[in-house]
Amino acid sequence: MSDVKNNNESDLRKGLEGVIAAETKIGYVNGTEGKLFYGGYEIQTLAEQSNYEEVSYLLLHGKLPDRNEYEKYCKALKEKATISKNVEKIIEEMAGKVHPMSILRTAVSYLSVEDKRESESALDAQKEMGESLIAKMPTIVAAIQRADQGKDIIKPDPDLNYATNFYHMALGKNPDPIESKIMDTALIVHADHGMNASTFSAMVTISTMADMYSAITSAISTLKGPLHGGANERALKMLQSMGSPENVEKKLSEMHENGERVMGFGHRVYKVYDPRAKILKKFAEYFGDRRKDKLFATAMKTEELMINKYGERGIFPNVDFYSGIIYDSLGFSTDLFTPIFAVARISGWVARSLEYASNNRLFRPKANYIGDRGPLKYVAIQDRE
Ligand SMILES: CC(C)(COP(=O)(O)OP(=O)(O)OC[C@H]1O[C@@H](n2cnc3c(N)ncnc32)[C@H](O)[C@@H]1OP(=O)(O)O)[C@@H](O)C(=O)NCCC(=O)NCCS
Repeated sequence: MSDVKNNNESDLRKGLEGVIAAETKIGYVNGTEGKLFYGGYEIQTLAEQSNYEEVSYLLLHGKLPDRNEYEKYCKALKEKATISKNVEKIIEEMAGKVHPMSILRTAVSYLSVEDKRESESALDAQKEMGESLIAKMPTIVAAIQRADQGKDIIKPDPDLNYATNFYHMALGKNPDPIESKIMDTALIVHADHGMNASTFSAMVTISTMADMYSAITSAISTLKGPLHGGANERALKMLQSMGSPENVEKKLSEMHENGERVMGFGHRVYKVYDPRAKILKKFAEYFGDRRKDKLFATAMKTEELMINKYGERGIFPNVDFYSGIIYDSLGFSTDLFTPIFAVARISGWVARSLEYASNNRLFRPKANYIGDRGPLKYVAIQDRE
């Protein structure tokens, strides 16, 4: 009887929507006002004045670094950025056969083979693994881009910062200062975002006292889906298929009639304009002026029609709508967009996993049982109809 009572249907929160399951000082999403904070700093301020290394430190340590701490952190990331020949071999072996997110998942999982403390759950070991993962993520994702295109893998350059180095390793050239700032900002705005699905996955895994490699492998697997990290790739493909602003209305009504979701729109938390999309839109516009196609104009028309139709219901462009245009304009292949998301989000994943592990409680929600409560009579297989 008590079981039935405890599983009352009124307690059901599908997708855990609105359920508070942890306390955090790392970041805060204000969905009704369209604001995002990391450790108390507004995302707009960080995007304009900070850089990814500082933001990563802020997420991990709860404060901006002083000069000494900053230099030490950057040095540590650079020292740990190189990946082994074996990891490169795995990437090359899988390249072209599966989606880059599957290669990333496997490569990150393999990193544990090379770490003596791999199965330790002590906080200092988890921190070391986390820092190493933050350092290696751009190297791995860039190597996936190169291998996918049949090109040689490029080693990290210790003279470059995190974002510029990633661009350099992936695309084989150095960005101009504006491109470098855009790359850095794209990483900053994706670095953390509350208890989103992939972060939650990492936290669930770490809550079992599993190691950081397992937690991040879980997070990458969760980020892969089109309702989460996969949306930017699909949003760009949708815009490319529309081709020009004149085709937008027809395509959107077809999608509406088929009950299809318009990728890059809507958000579980933001019911107003996503502040990250606002930041990235300016950069998309910058590239729009330089591109020969009508991608940005098509995006603008899509945004206008979508807001007219769905704005009252709280559906606006999200970060994925504009990030795709930016990554495409920078020269990344479309199927690398979600791995780039992982390059940024790794700091949030690690920070929130460590924060949760430092005050751990095993995640274990319940499900409402709606099946037969029996007891049914067991019938041997040969006697079943
Ligand atoms: C992100 C997302 C899963 C969040 O959705 P949510 O808050 O859980 O909202 P729901 O899925 O409950 O949708 C609520 C309503 O809005 C509609 N809706 C939500 N997003 C929509 C979209 N992108 N296109 C069209 N309709 C959408 C749903 O169809 C639903 O309509 P209904 O009430 O008539 O059934 C959803 O907006 C979506 O699928 N977006 C596209 C994928 C995407 O861009 N993901 C990246 C997120 S950063």
